[in-house]
Amino acid sequence: MAGRSFLERIYATSVGHGLARRAGLADPPVLLRGRVRPAGPIGLGTVTGGVLAERTLDVLGLVGTGPLRDEPDQQTRDADGRVRPPAYHARLGALVIDATGVRTIADLEPVRATLRPAMRGMEKSGRVIVVADDASAVEGLEARAVAQALDGIVRTVGKELRGGSTANLVTCGAGVGPEDLASTLSFLLDGRSAFVDGQVIRVRPRKAGDSPDDAYDPARPLSGRVVAVTGAARGIGAAIAHTMSRDGATVICVDVPQAGESLARVANTVGGSALQLDITVPDAGRRIAAHVVGRHGIDTRLWAIVHNAGITRDRLLANLDESRWSQVLRVNLAAQIAINAVLLDPAIPGGLAEPGRIVGIASTSGVAGNRGQANYAASKAGVMGLVRAMSEQLRDRPVTANAVAPGFIETDMTAAIPFVQREVFRRSNSLSQGGRPVDVAETIAWLCDPASGGIDGQVVRVCGQNLVGA
Ligand SMILES: NC(=O)c1ccc[n+]([C@@H]2O[C@H](COP(=O)([O-])OP(=O)(O)OC[C@H]3O[C@@H](n4cnc5c(N)ncnc54)[C@H](O)[C@@H]3O)[C@@H](O)[C@H]2O)c1
Repeated sequence: MAGRSFLERIYATSVGHGLARRAGLADPPVLLRGRVRPAGPIGLGTVTGGVLAERTLDVLGLVGTGPLRDEPDQQTRDADGRVRPPAYHARLGALVIDATGVRTIADLEPVRATLRPAMRGMEKSGRVIVVADDASAVEGLEARAVAQALDGIVRTVGKELRGGSTANLVTCGAGVGPEDLASTLSFLLDGRSAFVDGQVIRVRPRKAGDSPDDAYDPARPLSGRVVAVTGAARGIGAAIAHTMSRDGATVICVDVPQAGESLARVANTVGGSALQLDITVPDAGRRIAAHVVGRHGIDTRLWAIVHNAGITRDRLLANLDESRWSQVLRVNLAAQIAINAVLLDPAIPGGLAEPGRIVGIASTSGVAGNRGQANYAASKAGVMGLVRAMSEQLRDRPVTANAVAPGFIETDMTAAIPFVQREVFRRSNSLSQGGRPVDVAETIAWLCDPASGGIDGQVVRVCGQNLVGA
């Protein structure tokens, strides 16, 4: 293929591929993607009798079965008389452990006992999900320490599972009920969360006025809603437009005039509209709002704004001039702040609806820093700070502000990285591969779901549990 480096062309041949396998670079697992659940049963374990996970599965129309436990009455002995944990005969599609109420170090043992048989008992792309209390919602030194201990357990499970299976922890603030948790559990159970691994997702009770209306359909949650996606002409932005359109949204696709042709193509494919706009111009927010009104009528407001447009201008700090510095900060951070300020003004026709959703795109470079990316890392860490600050500022309004932090995703942006370095980035996560634009898009669509009001001020990494900043 044109554009491939010499090394890449060798790697693509059967000989090169065979050599790579012998060097320990096995083919990565194929991940289950989309609105599809693993086929096997859902094991549902409870540690102290908590029922939040069971009730949430019930909201989703799902039923869990009792999981195996590595306890004396279920253990077996092999021919040499050694004690063995019980083994699943039919592989589990998912294991959900309700660890709400866990307060003591002794409470952690049933978690281990439930996880052990599952470690070799999951089907491919299986799911381990632990539902627990948020450390801020429990009192006492041991209880808080133990709440954090679950974090370490789940991240380790993510690293030990094979075959594209993932492990995530959902921590619940005081007063969280099944309806607050349902969209998150549904997302984590199915293929939409293929590249979300080893993460901790905090859920809190939805704010007043932020519940789905009677017309809400979980299969097409964005039906009848208008959303705007910046940087939609290609890559992750185009995938976001496709995914949100699949979920029922009418998508306003925004990108620079130079990308006009591909922007029009994406907009046509998703049945949305194209807005040629450089998001750094001073009236960008007003032009988005005017487009909403011009296309959809004076009474229409935006359900969600997804700030996806982003650029890199990489240089080591020793070589980083003011121009490269300010370009990146303008596009990746300052433009979002300015656009949000306009769209959040209730007096501006075509602004953000209430309830409504704001999503920014950060990066694992913003979490951990990255050599040669001081400007980019500053802008992406800034996005993380921004959504946290906005969620505090919007405390009394039913609007959530969240960010996703992609790791290595296969796009034009990352195709520019030299092959060997790219292969290292691809492999350095628990799923041994780069993510796809759709993985980021699915996570954003979940954050924009009308039932996801319980997720606010969070940064969710879509990185396959990347070792960077883990
Ligand atoms: N690809 C990855 O691995 C990765 C990892 C972490 C974060 N991200 C972030 O995800 C987002 C999308 O990344 P991608 O890989 O699809 O990038 P991309 O370069 O393929 O696409 C970015 C799009 O943004 C548009 N854009 C740039 N400046 C703009 C401006 N001033 N106004 C309007 N549109 C503008 C571009 O024209 C382009 O269509 C970016 O914010 C990026 O920083 C990507």
